[in-house]
Amino acid sequence: MAAISDPKLVAAVANAGGMGTIGGLRLAPLALRRWIRKTRTLTDEPFGVNLVPSFGGPDVFEAQFQVVLHERPKMLSLFYAEAYPDMIARAKDAGMAVMVQVGSVELARRAIADGADIITAQGSESGGHLNRGTIGLLSLLPAILDIAGDRPVLAAGGITNRQDVETVMGMGTSGVLAGTAFVACDESNAHPLYKQKIVEAMVDDIEYRTGYSFGWKYGTPHRVMPNRDRWNLLRFIGGGARIIDKPKMAEKLSLYAGQGVDKIDHVMPASERVAELASGLLSQGGAAQDLDAVSQRRTLQARYA
Ligand SMILES: Cc1cc2nc3c(=O)[nH]c(=O)nc-3n(C[C@H](O)[C@H](O)[C@H](O)COP(=O)(O)O)c2cc1C
Repeated sequence: MAAISDPKLVAAVANAGGMGTIGGLRLAPLALRRWIRKTRTLTDEPFGVNLVPSFGGPDVFEAQFQVVLHERPKMLSLFYAEAYPDMIARAKDAGMAVMVQVGSVELARRAIADGADIITAQGSESGGHLNRGTIGLLSLLPAILDIAGDRPVLAAGGITNRQDVETVMGMGTSGVLAGTAFVACDESNAHPLYKQKIVEAMVDDIEYRTGYSFGWKYGTPHRVMPNRDRWNLLRFIGGGARIIDKPKMAEKLSLYAGQGVDKIDHVMPASERVAELASGLLSQGGAAQDLDAVSQRRTLQARYA
């Protein structure tokens, strides 16, 4: 999560046993390197870096990508990867696992053809930007599992607790990717008012939008908690207010969040959130003999990854 997943949150997730991922989008190359190195001072565990190749143009992306190739985090996570497909092979040649997040079967096929190691099925419930964003997770996940072969598939969109994880593990996923649930963690770089709004929001409060959002191509779909203040222009803009931003930003922006908000009732340490999600993986592992062969294999992959 750009601006929100900073070294503190990434290290807290990694130390708790999750694959924390630095939000590299919008970071200048030197800042990206600084964040990667800072994260390494806070954890010895593996972590990832996320980049959005279509954002900012080829030169900006190449400069960020060079930093990642040099620093070699364990995983490169890509969104809107189809803009520069050759970087998947380049990242793999440098020894990284490459995860690509997609919101349709067609995009999943392309990511697989381009060599992605892990596919994340991004359901339309997801917070922030959506790559297509029209297919709900319950329909998207089985369709992507069908074409993924032996690759691990992760489920994203509205995942916040143990029950959510149990549900998608029962469908054969290898794990989950969660965003909004980690915005509302103590260690996240989100403004306290943003965290509080997530705690207070209900699922009915979340809106799908295609207008303007900070720096993205006009029309890119995204999901926000809208600000309905009639008099403030900021309410039309999707964003993620950070700790250092003025309170006005968190008060007036429409803030990125997914449909899982109803199930988030307090701000907690990231380790607690990871433990909650992981308890869903383990309970499925215990019931593995009841699952079919594919689900068993996927469950075990997730447990031993
Ligand atoms: C605040 C916020 C910022 C996000 N920023 C990014 C980003 O920079 N890159 C990216 O690939 N996905 C980003 N996403 C989308 C997530 O990767 C993921 O699809 C989403 O969080 C999953 O749904 P959930 O929020 O309901 O857990 C962001 C999501 C949120 C909530």
